[in-house]
Amino acid sequence: MEESYLEIRNLCKTFSAKNGSVEALKGVSLSIGKGEIFGVIGLSGAGKSTLVRCMNLLERPDSGDVLLNGESLLALSKEQLRLRRQKIGMIFQHFNLLEQQTVLENVCFPLEIRGIPKKERREKALSLLEKVGLADKAKAYPSQLSGGQKQRVAIARVLANEPDILLCDEATSALDPETTQTILRLLKAIRDTLGITIVVITHEMRVIQEVCTRVAVLDGGLVQEEGSVAEIFDHPKSRAAKRLLLMADEEEESYVG
Ligand SMILES: Nc1ncnc2c1ncn2[C@@H]1O[C@H](COP(=O)(O)OP(=O)(O)OP(=O)(O)O)[C@@H](O)[C@H]1O
Ligand SMILES: [Mg+2]
Repeated sequence: MEESYLEIRNLCKTFSAKNGSVEALKGVSLSIGKGEIFGVIGLSGAGKSTLVRCMNLLERPDSGDVLLNGESLLALSKEQLRLRRQKIGMIFQHFNLLEQQTVLENVCFPLEIRGIPKKERREKALSLLEKVGLADKAKAYPSQLSGGQKQRVAIARVLANEPDILLCDEATSALDPETTQTILRLLKAIRDTLGITIVVITHEMRVIQEVCTRVAVLDGGLVQEEGSVAEIFDHPKSRAAKRLLLMADEEEESYVG
């Protein structure tokens, strides 16, 4: 196996609220190789979003460690972390585009933050839009785009920072099956051409089957099982994996009619 690029060690996170506390992560460990497309699947409330937010320290874990290419993110100073985070891209279910800005301006935004001169950032943004197949929409506003197109803009925007790793939290959950396929194909192409490590977080088995090499099943804040996609879905052992498999079968039946 390739050396581990992203290493999650024994992450714990408890949220406390007035009416009690929730142990969202109870000691999660994962090793993800460079250039791998790794899946994390789980039912609602399993702790997936908490895990992904802890991976880039948007959420500070209570204990455990996150090592990116051997370097502990928790040991970094605020300023070092800010710079490091630019190399950790994130895409979400709801795209999070700037609605008052054009597609081109959206992709230019991270470059502007980095202080790249105007002409250069426009050129770079345009080439990224070409890469995701949206050069013709440069002057459009997000409201004029389909869901799949919006996610392409979000992907172009995240690529502007030349990330080493891309974290996708339910990136295709708002999309229909066909659009989901095109976005997943784009992610695969990005991995193949740019060598970016990708973590795909989802509750949908078909998403994992489409792009991932390995998968971890998360339930109750713990990794219940982990292995190759075929291994896990052909012989699910955990309650959560069996349940997710059943859900996928039901969905398939509903398409067939
Ligand atoms: N900021 C927060 N404050 C309190 N509890 C939280 C917070 N964020 C998450 N939780 C709780 O932690 C648990 C895990 O939540 P999380 O969002 O990580 O699940 P998830 O697997 O992403 O679910 P979904 O598939 O619905 O997105 C849940 O019980 C949730 O209510
Ligand atoms: Mg979530």
